[in-house]
Amino acid sequence: MLLENKVAIITGGDSGIGKAIALELAKEGAAVTINYHSNAEAAGEVKQEIEKNGGKALTVQGNVASVSDLQNLIGHTLETFGRVDIMVNNAGMETRTSILDTTEKDYDAVLGVDLKGAFFGTQLAAKQMIRQDGEGNQHNRGRIINISSVHEDWPMPGNTPYCCAKGGMRMLTRTAGVELAPHGITVVGVGPGAVDTPINKGTLADPEKKAALNNAIPVGRVAEPGEIAGLVAWLASDKSSYVTATTYFIDGGIMQNSVGL
Ligand code: BGC
Repeated sequence: MLLENKVAIITGGDSGIGKAIALELAKEGAAVTINYHSNAEAAGEVKQEIEKNGGKALTVQGNVASVSDLQNLIGHTLETFGRVDIMVNNAGMETRTSILDTTEKDYDAVLGVDLKGAFFGTQLAAKQMIRQDGEGNQHNRGRIINISSVHEDWPMPGNTPYCCAKGGMRMLTRTAGVELAPHGITVVGVGPGAVDTPINKGTLADPEKKAALNNAIPVGRVAEPGEIAGLVAWLASDKSSYVTATTYFIDGGIMQNSVGL
């Protein structure tokens, strides 16, 4: 197993990509804290599934846009599992609004969860990783993984706040990766394309939109959440020790699409 004796926190671990990551990291031996915002039942089901398979899990409610909720998330993890080795800043949302119709409320909601949440999740996890193992450069001390999107780099008209947040996350990953390297902490982004998760429910429920989306993806289909989680498990492990301050795209080729040329 890749992650024996490690402790991982996954924000938004109750659904979609976050749920798949929680299950995968637990399968690889990590004790897992599942943060959720509003669906306690779904988070409880993820915990149960992990425990049924002999793993260790904890659920903690919290809004990642709140620094005190993030502090509470780390605090509960320490009380239960004693340390934090892996922080997965996964919680995300989008409003599907263009620059012309985005309200202040939309903007604050998306930037709050997607960027502020990842920023302070990174900061607080890094402080804990440094605190628990002492100062100085220790190899493989900690892993911070930011679940971004192809849209950290690729415009999505009609989803401007989300693109702004993920563009910010791109630079968070790069800058924090450089700043935290001397502490033995790596910071890596994972940029999925279209995945079969609640965020894409509307598109996937509409046959025309679904066909257009599949047609834009060179492999011809959206991803399953588990196809993202496998990469995250490897990045969370000691095997990825030389990977930092960069993003792995995992998108079925969508960003390189030359359909229509
Ligand atoms: C967005 C989806 C979009 C996908 C591919 C994701 O990051 O959340 O709305 O379908 O990227 O464009």
